[in-house]
Amino acid sequence: MKNIDALAIGDKIVQSLKPSVFLTTAAEGKINTMVIGWGAIGVMWGKPVFTAMVRKSRYSWELLEKSNEFTVSIPTHDMKEALKICGTKSGRDIDKFTAAALMPQAGQKIKTPVLAGAGIHLECKVLYKQDMQPENMDKAEKERWYGDGGDWHTMYFAEIVASYED
Ligand SMILES: Cc1cc2nc3c(=O)[nH]c(=O)nc-3n(C[C@H](O)[C@H](O)[C@H](O)COP(=O)(O)O)c2cc1C
Repeated sequence: MKNIDALAIGDKIVQSLKPSVFLTTAAEGKINTMVIGWGAIGVMWGKPVFTAMVRKSRYSWELLEKSNEFTVSIPTHDMKEALKICGTKSGRDIDKFTAAALMPQAGQKIKTPVLAGAGIHLECKVLYKQDMQPENMDKAEKERWYGDGGDWHTMYFAEIVASYED
């Protein structure tokens, strides 16, 4: 395991959001991983911060609300099949670790595991969260992403407390 400076490879991390990366959560003995394509990396409150946006309908949202922490695993090799499963199936219905042949690996600084062998890992502790406020959203983007029904995102601003490559 090689420690890395997450901010120094910020552009690589942002580029990886397209096609997408894994966001893993754990709470009350359950672990789950989902795919995210939106996120940001930068400095806030003088700390390296990863910001994720998770819709309230996700099982991951439930776990994240309980644990206040998550990990991000960024594939450095082809994990298309696992990304497909984890981005379309819910941990409410299936165990995605079994379905996508993923192995949890203990985190270094937090209780949430990372995905063994995926590549680059960020361990993140939530410093601030904010439910999106519909009235604050640009009208066209609101229509495009949320329509009438909602399913709004919660934004999680999380300190990157460990970052390393396997
Ligand atoms: C390419 C891609 C990017 C995605 N990005 C996000 C995201 O940033 N936030 C989010 O809430 N869901 C996102 N999703 C959807 C979730 O990964 C998907 O709904 C998943 O099944 C949720 O799993 P869960 O219910 O186990 O948490 C994305 C899906 C794909 C395929």
